[in-house]
Amino acid sequence: MTLSRRTGLSWALLGRRRTSGPSQVRTRPTRYLSSSAPPPPGSWSSHLSRLPRQDLYRLSVTDPDRFWASAAADRLRWIEPFQRVQDCDLDRGRIRWFLGGKLNVSVNCLDIHVDAHPDRVALIWERDEPGTEVKVSYRELLDMTCRLANTLKTHGIQKGDRVAIYMPVSPLAVAAMLACARIGAVHTVVFAGFSSEALAGRIQDAQCRAVVTCNQAVRGGRLIQLKATVDAAVKSCPSVQHVFVSQRTEQPPVMGKLDVPLEEVMSSQPTVCPPEPLDSEDLLFLLYTSGSTGKPKGIVHTQAGYLLYASITHQLVFDHRDGDVFGCMADIGWITGHSYVVYGPLCNGATTVLFESTPVYPHPGRYWETVERLRINQFYAAPTALRLLLTHGDGWVRKYDRSSLRTLASVGEPINQEAWHWFHSVVGERRCPLVDTWWQTETGGVCIAPRPAEPGAPIIPAMAMRPFFGIQPVLMGQKGEALTGNSVGGPLCLRQPWPGMARSIYGDHQRFIDSYFRPYPGHYFTGDGAFRSEDGFYQITGRMDDVINVSGHRLGTAEIEDALDEHPAVPESAVIGTPHEIKGEVPFAFVVLKEDLSDDPSTVLQQLRQLVSTKIAKYAVPEHFLVVKRLPKTRSGKIMRRILRKVAMETGEDLGDVSTLDDPSVLQEILEVYQQHRKQRQE
Ligand code: WT7
Repeated sequence: MTLSRRTGLSWALLGRRRTSGPSQVRTRPTRYLSSSAPPPPGSWSSHLSRLPRQDLYRLSVTDPDRFWASAAADRLRWIEPFQRVQDCDLDRGRIRWFLGGKLNVSVNCLDIHVDAHPDRVALIWERDEPGTEVKVSYRELLDMTCRLANTLKTHGIQKGDRVAIYMPVSPLAVAAMLACARIGAVHTVVFAGFSSEALAGRIQDAQCRAVVTCNQAVRGGRLIQLKATVDAAVKSCPSVQHVFVSQRTEQPPVMGKLDVPLEEVMSSQPTVCPPEPLDSEDLLFLLYTSGSTGKPKGIVHTQAGYLLYASITHQLVFDHRDGDVFGCMADIGWITGHSYVVYGPLCNGATTVLFESTPVYPHPGRYWETVERLRINQFYAAPTALRLLLTHGDGWVRKYDRSSLRTLASVGEPINQEAWHWFHSVVGERRCPLVDTWWQTETGGVCIAPRPAEPGAPIIPAMAMRPFFGIQPVLMGQKGEALTGNSVGGPLCLRQPWPGMARSIYGDHQRFIDSYFRPYPGHYFTGDGAFRSEDGFYQITGRMDDVINVSGHRLGTAEIEDALDEHPAVPESAVIGTPHEIKGEVPFAFVVLKEDLSDDPSTVLQQLRQLVSTKIAKYAVPEHFLVVKRLPKTRSGKIMRRILRKVAMETGEDLGDVSTLDDPSVLQEILEVYQQHRKQRQE
């Protein structure tokens, strides 16, 4: 990105680097029929990019149609131009962008780059064993995607069908996502650490017609039996007609009647697959995430708005420049992997790293050895990994050459001061801006972060900082009023829609409205609390609901309670999050056991650990269990988790307002067992 000497501004603020070369897809110039008068094609962006950035932010919130229309026209290749920029009504949860437009996401992520630079590396698959990385060019990725798309088509998968992808990050997993996008199928990637029951629940909710998986996964030197987990899951999923099995290892999988050997079938398919022209608002993917109540929700993202937002944030938040190697360590099972391993980087023609291993395999220098070997320019990781690595000392970092690094970034949970300073000073030698990025599965891309590409932009340790273009944070007061001024804190809402935001919860639009738009009418409610500093910067303080964050993985405490309550000896339970040095938070379970229990309570607790692991995932298993006679409840029977949180936080006798408690004697009971539990832990 070149900077204009006179204004100190970037020339390509809105426009993606233009790629030249013959185009395979017919395009027409975009026409605008939005509220404002239609400009001649292309002129807005050049006009906008001359504005100082503060003015550009102001414009993005005062005239979002103009801002986003310009960005969409310049950054995306359209098959049909859009007619209207947006049609949104937050109170009804109606969010639509770029109406009437048609495009194909895989064309934007592949074909246009193949036209311009077919041999550029699209993916570097950093496999579990260091030094065995595999590079895949844009040409090769397009071929692979088309073969996979044709495989899906010949097995009857059509536009609108849902396809589950249950595999760790790999070129084939990326090709599977893009193959769905090519033919208009809707992918739902399920993190490969989830249990068969959790996978089955997601497949059933989405009514998937197919599953794409691999025989085994390899992580940290260990083999994980993925295919066996899929076999167990699909037994209860009658919608699944095919399971496509790729070979990650040499171990041949046991093939059943649903199973299709993926590579074998792909090899006889053509490398050309015409892209399906899709409506801006056709579904691109579902991604299941935890809420404060009930089952995980299938967050719906659609084509154009999501892709635009992923690509513009990828470029501007991380200061990604042409030719850079982008290293986001996340798995594709999470939104971070969707937006910043796959869609954002590929839409921008970047070289993106697919990290298969763990931060400590084969040693705690793995990340930095990878940075040195792959010459990574932007490095994006979770605070939990950094906290773990810093306990191993600076030697593991200093051993490797990190001179390629230009931007450091963190995501997933609040980054504490110690981890921030270690990342910034030891890893980045104080030379790289560190951007703490706040966002959610629902927001599609980063919403609050420092903007390092801006000359002279300040960065304050451990603060997510400033809203991205088009994002207007609002902090709410006690009565639901927007707080004005600085040095205030409260529930964090976002005032106006942006193209990357979720469109619905799959199959339950009412839940979408109730969760996000009912709490503060006219606003999107994030579930997080935040503080606005004296200088007007934002600091995220954490979830305000019953969602917890374990090692950067989002979990609903209600899901864990549901799993615990399935045990016949458990009439009820309550789960809360408590702080943990490395993992950020861990689940703490208070369980009531039946009085006439014949088993030893420790046997039951062991069974409960197993239960959570098979119902959800290993990382959801509570770190602490406390057997109590009763739970604190209000007179109307609601469990007062707030009090349990205070008990576990060890605030002593100060348990806050307990006046609504049905029977206050329960407190003494719980405090006593907690003290015993604590003593035992220390012994
Ligand atoms: C929740 C969203 C966004 C990708 C990964 C997580 C927490 C996320 C930060 C941050 C403080 C953060 C919030 C949010 N969170 N980033 N930089 N500082 N908290 O996505 O699984 O949808 O979880 O993660 O509590 O609501 P997710």
